[in-house]
Amino acid sequence: MKVAMASLDVQQIRSQFPILHQQVNGKPLIYFDNAATNQKPKRVIDALARYYENDNANIHRGIHTLAERATKAYEATRQAMQAFIHAKHEEEIIFTRGVTESINLVASSYGRAFLQSGDEVIVSGLEHHSNIVPWQMICGSAKQF
Ligand SMILES: Cc1ncc(COP(=O)(O)O)c(C=O)c1O
Repeated sequence: MKVAMASLDVQQIRSQFPILHQQVNGKPLIYFDNAATNQKPKRVIDALARYYENDNANIHRGIHTLAERATKAYEATRQAMQAFIHAKHEEEIIFTRGVTESINLVASSYGRAFLQSGDEVIVSGLEHHSNIVPWQMICGSAKQF
């Protein structure tokens, strides 16, 4: 079987990340700690700056102009994400602050609804504790279901 691979223009991609336009220890910066913190491309940095300069407000809780704009932008992002991952309903898109909060949410909602006493949750030995502790906690409380 022949698999067509699109070639990646690494230099073009790197050029979109201002933080990579520097040298560390005399070498071009190569950043691998993405699970902890992602670096941001210029267009994301610009969008954040535009948002904080123009629209920053509570979403879904204010009736003033800024809150309406912020809410509209937030919901537009939810719809873009829905299209991007081909989700069936926009309510499937839930924004969290990170991996730990996301897995805690899955463990406590899905886990509480479907795990039963005697079930086993299997995680690999390579997992970060953010994908271990939530399951340990739900398994600990599963005895009470
Ligand atoms: C490998 C790895 N996975 C998961 C996480 C947890 O990510 P978050 O800070 O988004 O909860 C981290 C955080 O450092 C990490 O390094």
